[in-house]
Amino acid sequence: MFPLPRCGLEKVDESVWSGIDSASAADTRRAGVDFSASLSPGDVVALQGELGSGKTTFIQGVVSGLGLDSDVTSPTFALVHEYGQPAEVVHIDCYRETSLERWLSLGVTDYFDGAAVCLVEWPEVLAPILPPGTIQLRFSLGSDQHRRLIRREN
Ligand SMILES: Nc1ncnc2c1ncn2[C@@H]1O[C@H](COP(=O)(O)OP(=O)(O)OP(=O)(O)O)[C@@H](O)[C@H]1O
Ligand SMILES: [Mg+2]
Repeated sequence: MFPLPRCGLEKVDESVWSGIDSASAADTRRAGVDFSASLSPGDVVALQGELGSGKTTFIQGVVSGLGLDSDVTSPTFALVHEYGQPAEVVHIDCYRETSLERWLSLGVTDYFDGAAVCLVEWPEVLAPILPPGTIQLRFSLGSDQHRRLIRREN
């Protein structure tokens, strides 16, 4: 058997984080760390995907990858969690607040205009006001209870 020569045209740019087939929550956290290396201040990331598909787990990795030592939990009572002082990462979860008017009155656009990285779970309600260039991530359940598929869509 001879190794096949690699075709230059097929070379994948490995500096762009494109996704992962995760086999565990730890894998998903690591993926969040890897992804965080591609972020710049002010980036907005929309994390779409069904309940339990790993969005918050991934965000735990992003926050630790950005050097912030904080417990990341689902914002059950708070709609927004800020990490860092001043905030370097803002975690917004729209699951429990589906009124765009309410988000606007809370000043969510100030976060998008600011220097913090904004991570938005259940972003559909904010779709009309997400800035151009928002990074779109898609989470889905895999073939068994520990598998998750995470894809960057743009
Ligand atoms: N490969 C995996 N990646 C991520 N989480 C996993 C994986 N395997 C099992 N899990 C478990 O699935 C759950 C995922 O929960 P998580 O809160 O991250 O999901 P979520 O997408 O934020 O859900 P929600 O929409 O309810 O906010 C956790 O309990 C986690 O331990
Ligand atoms: Mg969550």
